[in-house]
Amino acid sequence: MGYVIRPVASAAELAEVYDLMGAQFEPARTRGDRGFGELARLFPERRTLMLLAHADDRIVGGAHIGPRGTLSIALMPEARGQGLGTRLVRALEEAATRLGCAAINVGGVTDRTRSFYLRLGFQGRGSMMRKGLPLSALRRDPDGWRRELAVLRARRQLRL
Ligand SMILES: CC(C)(COP(=O)(O)OP(=O)(O)OC[C@H]1O[C@@H](n2cnc3c(N)ncnc32)[C@H](O)[C@@H]1OP(=O)(O)O)[C@@H](O)C(=O)NCCC(=O)NCCS
Repeated sequence: MGYVIRPVASAAELAEVYDLMGAQFEPARTRGDRGFGELARLFPERRTLMLLAHADDRIVGGAHIGPRGTLSIALMPEARGQGLGTRLVRALEEAATRLGCAAINVGGVTDRTRSFYLRLGFQGRGSMMRKGLPLSALRRDPDGWRRELAVLRARRQLRL
């Protein structure tokens, strides 16, 4: 099955994905929970960290990084075991690195899911695991973009 991964498009869609993901957890989570309110507040600035996966026009799961750099991921049963979870986490890692995040945390890891996270480079023994992210250009040099912009503007003026 060809699954497509993309950022969540709106707050309403975020609620839809959250409910779908929440139904995969035990106990189930819904948009009525406090966790959703915290995530929704981050949506305007951090929407690149909120992804969904779909097959045709049917959403089959999602993954996001919420408050405190915490990863949440869940797929419908028929979409599991085909590498989609791995693709989602890798896409989130890239987006989080671009934003200058230092690490991704995940809680509630069980014996069933531990190998999934270990393969992706997460570390930790108990139910909490963590993966450090490479230092992004943004964190190495937070003002670098200003200098590059100034150089670009100067070059453009010379050409005029
Ligand atoms: C955990 C989950 C996101 C992994 O995504 P996935 O697309 O199935 O994973 P991938 O195909 O990329 O990798 C497969 C690995 O995932 C792990 N896995 C965990 N639960 C699984 C499941 N129900 N079905 C298949 N693989 C599962 C296994 O380690 C598997 O490796 P293995 O085949 O060597 O045993 C997905 O199975 C899922 O949504 N599970 C239910 C919700 C959940 O547990 N979320 C994580 C909370 S910490």
